[in-house]
Amino acid sequence: MRSPIQPYLQNVLDGIAERTDGELADYIPELAQVDPAPFGIAISMLDGQTYAAGDSDLPFTIQSVAKAFTYALAIRERGLEHVLEHIGVEPSGDAFNRISVDDRGRPANPMINAGAIAAFALVPGESAEEKFTAVLEFLSACAGRSLVVAEDVFASEMDTAYRNLGIANILRAGGALAAEPEVAVEGYIRQSSVLVTTEDLAVMGATLASGGVQPVTRERVIDEDTAGHVLSVMTTCGMYDAAGDWVSAVGFPAKSGVGGGIVGASPGRIGIAAFSPRLDRHGNSVRAVAACERLSRDLGLHLMRIPEVGHLAVREAVTNTSVENDIGNAAYFRLQGTIDFVAAETVVRRMSSESVSERYVVVDLSEVSEAKSVALLMLSEVLGAFCSEGKYLYVLDPAGIYSAADIEAHGLAGRVQHVGSWKEGERVARERTERGLEP
Ligand code: DON
Repeated sequence: MRSPIQPYLQNVLDGIAERTDGELADYIPELAQVDPAPFGIAISMLDGQTYAAGDSDLPFTIQSVAKAFTYALAIRERGLEHVLEHIGVEPSGDAFNRISVDDRGRPANPMINAGAIAAFALVPGESAEEKFTAVLEFLSACAGRSLVVAEDVFASEMDTAYRNLGIANILRAGGALAAEPEVAVEGYIRQSSVLVTTEDLAVMGATLASGGVQPVTRERVIDEDTAGHVLSVMTTCGMYDAAGDWVSAVGFPAKSGVGGGIVGASPGRIGIAAFSPRLDRHGNSVRAVAACERLSRDLGLHLMRIPEVGHLAVREAVTNTSVENDIGNAAYFRLQGTIDFVAAETVVRRMSSESVSERYVVVDLSEVSEAKSVALLMLSEVLGAFCSEGKYLYVLDPAGIYSAADIEAHGLAGRVQHVGSWKEGERVARERTERGLEP
């Protein structure tokens, strides 16, 4: 059977394709020559499954979309504290090419040119070439393939880089640029000229959305905290002086580029990308913005409109029965889904409100996909309380969500038995009975 997702994306694309408003980025001669017609949309699930429509495999220059990734790389290599000494995280409310610096002389944020040039300068390496090699490797790792530079676009922008050189010189004079201005600007322009496709951008977005794991190669390219930080800055600053409109109308972190691309990330869900060369007055692609608005609305991706699912965390609770099985007369709690704080609250409320007469309690995590550390802490508290009442606990957990090591770390070793399957639980119970212990 054919998935309905690709036809849906085609429908989104067809509905927006008639828009021909906007202008090409004419301040870079080579970009003023591109065909304005192409239009692509793609989404990438966090397991790497990608759906696309239109010109989703057509290469275009990444431009400012790269800024989010170079910033992530700078943090990975230098640490967040060090990077924050050089670059702020406040929306500038100004156009991308303004010299927006704060009262400490730092660029307002890493998504405008000033901050992105400063972020590039922080990437390890002596020369523009060494730094750029690290950036290209990182962008390629996020895309899951070896990316290359559009040398013609690079040369064309280098010829007209007066403004970026001016910005870099001012930053250097104020002590906010960790490299010579020429080195930083050359590398920054080279990074802007890297060729990507809409599908690449969707996968790169999914890498941020997943908390730093590239969905296809499964390589962890950045840690979860860094991914969360970059997504936060993209949310408030990624669309420049249109950031407020973007957050209210679309509501997921995104970064645009004057090549016409937009990368988006719905945290924990999907990577999103759209591309079409005509730009609005902020430098954001008209059609790509419209596509993101539609996808956000249809797919429910707005950060502030997340459905509450915690109440479904306890799928089944069987208590106070007289049914005997191999581990004796046991109460049974089956949990499901992702157990975050809200879900764990429903679990511990349910568990602690039941008066459980059984001597044994089985907590079944086989349908739990993930448990946050706060949830494990809360679960440990109720399990500990059951233990104090003299009950014996089995955690049925084939995926190791709440592993034997977690049980030990929470001080419950020897009282909570971790088993991978019912069969193993029954075997453990039998062996314990044979040794004269409680099952
Ligand atoms: O610095 C520049 O002018 C470009 N190479 C990148 C700017 C850009 O993509 C702004 N994005 N909307």
